[in-house]
Amino acid sequence: MTGFIAGLQGQAGRLFAEPRPNPDETSFQVDNTSEQYYQSPYYTLHKDQIQPVPQPRVSPPRIDLGQVLGGDVLGPIVAAKAISFHAVGDTGAAKVNRFQTAAGAIANEASVADAMSADVQEGGPSVPAFFFHLGDVVYYFGEAQYYYDQFYEPFRAYDRPIFAIPGNHDGAVFGADPNMPQIPTLAAFLRNFCTDAPGPSPDAGGLVRTTMTQPGVYFTLDAPHVSIIGLYTNVLEGPGVISSQGGHYPIGDDQIQFLTSELRRLRPARQAGERAVLVACHHPPASVDARHGGTTGLADDIDHACRSAGLWPDAVLSGHAHLYQRYTRAVDGRQIPYVVAGSGGFAATAPKGALTPPVTDGEYTLETKPIVAFGYLLVTVDLSGPQRRLTISFRSRDRAAPHDGVSVDLDTGQLLP
Ligand SMILES: [Fe+2]
Repeated sequence: MTGFIAGLQGQAGRLFAEPRPNPDETSFQVDNTSEQYYQSPYYTLHKDQIQPVPQPRVSPPRIDLGQVLGGDVLGPIVAAKAISFHAVGDTGAAKVNRFQTAAGAIANEASVADAMSADVQEGGPSVPAFFFHLGDVVYYFGEAQYYYDQFYEPFRAYDRPIFAIPGNHDGAVFGADPNMPQIPTLAAFLRNFCTDAPGPSPDAGGLVRTTMTQPGVYFTLDAPHVSIIGLYTNVLEGPGVISSQGGHYPIGDDQIQFLTSELRRLRPARQAGERAVLVACHHPPASVDARHGGTTGLADDIDHACRSAGLWPDAVLSGHAHLYQRYTRAVDGRQIPYVVAGSGGFAATAPKGALTPPVTDGEYTLETKPIVAFGYLLVTVDLSGPQRRLTISFRSRDRAAPHDGVSVDLDTGQLLP
């Protein structure tokens, strides 16, 4: 028997992992019946309409990793001039039908979460500092009562902070009233990821992980050596939407203004080679997946912000399509990876047609055969050597060697061979 090993403790009493995690659950604590909400009057009437975007708690919505983790974790990262983190979307477990039992759905999500937790436990120089979730945390309507089974329990051994942008399922709403959702959009997401102070969650079922204190559903995470600008792409199955698109959608353009001003703020540090800058959005700006096509309005909005700020991100990370895909975008002399990783455990969905990469569509080239398997991204920004680089690797749930990966030279903006 080993002795009692306490989990990591973060700033302001934050807790992450259980000191002694129980074995993976094999049945849901709360059986998921929310598939029926697709038939509810509110959903059927409003499923093609976007939902309001909650105002951030603070302006600009920005959080520093130093508010979350102490010097025990960040000190070595600063000293090493390198940071690693996890990213993946679509981690929930809810799909139970004649092809998949509840135990099967739970096992799929658990296999990814357990592999990520093992990466953290293993430690070493590239131990991930945090997990940036790419959206669709809880299926099918982001309900609070499923946060235990689909989030807190699967990640109970993950001894690092978890940040998240919402996916369409996290913001989707339903209800018996044709004009009023039963629960406002993103209610459970806000009380688990966007609280004023870290504390116990009413949805954690007694597990120790404290709530995350993101300033909003769209926000920048400033970490040592890397900033991630997370956008909220709203509730449609497609397309992803972050703005009014010239009055077409009834939301404001705050997210474009936020993205533009954040890129402008980060530009000097990026140009000095002091940090990498990534954009994360649940819906992929480019995808060849069968059910989740790329969305030009979203891509145009991001491009507009980048051009006005005079800075392109070093990579764009997305989920939503339940597989792994990697594109390279060629623009303004840069080569930018656009990586889709909706492979977090909910489902694995094959792309349409039989594409033989490389496949180029405009500025985007699909570089490798999509991987239809459960797995996650390990992202590393390494500024320690003469060749400053960003590396993004897809790791399968068995933690085998990466199936695919890409490195960007942060000085030239070109892919490394
Ligand atoms: Fe999604």
